[in-house]
Amino acid sequence: MEPTAYAAAWTREESLDSLNRRIHDGVSLEQLADRARGYRDQMFEVLYPFAQPKEGDHVLEIGSGVGWIMQVMLEKFPMGEITGLDISENMIRRAQERFSDPKAQFVLYDGFNFPFSDNYFPVIYSCAALQHIEKHVAFLLMREIYRVLAPQGHAILHFLSVNHMPHNGIPYEQECWNIINNVETHWHFYYSFDELFILFSELIGVDDLDIQHNESFNSFFVHFSKNTQRKFLREDLPHFTYQGRFNQTFPI
Ligand SMILES: C[S@@+](CC[C@H](N)C(=O)[O-])C[C@H]1O[C@@H](n2cnc3c(N)ncnc32)[C@H](O)[C@@H]1O
Repeated sequence: MEPTAYAAAWTREESLDSLNRRIHDGVSLEQLADRARGYRDQMFEVLYPFAQPKEGDHVLEIGSGVGWIMQVMLEKFPMGEITGLDISENMIRRAQERFSDPKAQFVLYDGFNFPFSDNYFPVIYSCAALQHIEKHVAFLLMREIYRVLAPQGHAILHFLSVNHMPHNGIPYEQECWNIINNVETHWHFYYSFDELFILFSELIGVDDLDIQHNESFNSFFVHFSKNTQRKFLREDLPHFTYQGRFNQTFPI
């Protein structure tokens, strides 16, 4: 199966230098390692330090691009192996041109079905990738992430929040036309707290769900696990949904 139209901006032939300038939130070349450390530390130090990869763990990044975050993960944690999964052969080639590490490998796939067995990875993360994937495809990938996550493992996923919509360099109306006209550029898809809550807790049925809004990233970080017999990491998470707030204000 071919990835859908959003994918063209990622799969085209392009040099490493051009990708480094284009795909990292407008951050300058000198700052790319620090940008990657920023995502790493936000996920594995500030929000979910208990999710840090341990000795020998197999770690998966979804949408690894040219590998900056994988590289700084290796710099800090004693994992056994890290796999970057991507739909773009060119991106993988450029990542391998940029760095090599015996613990790092890259896997190309069709954009729908992860080529990994169930329950395989104890740690999975994704930054600045799911936001570019059409929502109906992204939902199928969220299910795939849950499928390949090991029991008691940790998945941490980064999503753009609806709060980012008024601040994106591309006006939202233009964004809509880009999608309608299949323009070969970055498309953005935004999420709200309630939407993420329903997707993960009701439709996928994860355990240890947590959703944190990060103002400076204008983003959500979602954490979940599997087979822990605990639906939410913080018991009060459902109270932050619209429904939860409404019920608190007007108890039935
Ligand atoms: C903006 S780049 C981010 C790269 C990296 N995560 C980072 O932040 O440095 C988005 C990446 O997601 C990849 N991508 C797009 N659709 C994807 C999909 N369905 N599955 C996995 N990766 C995908 C693109 O090819 C690209 O490498």
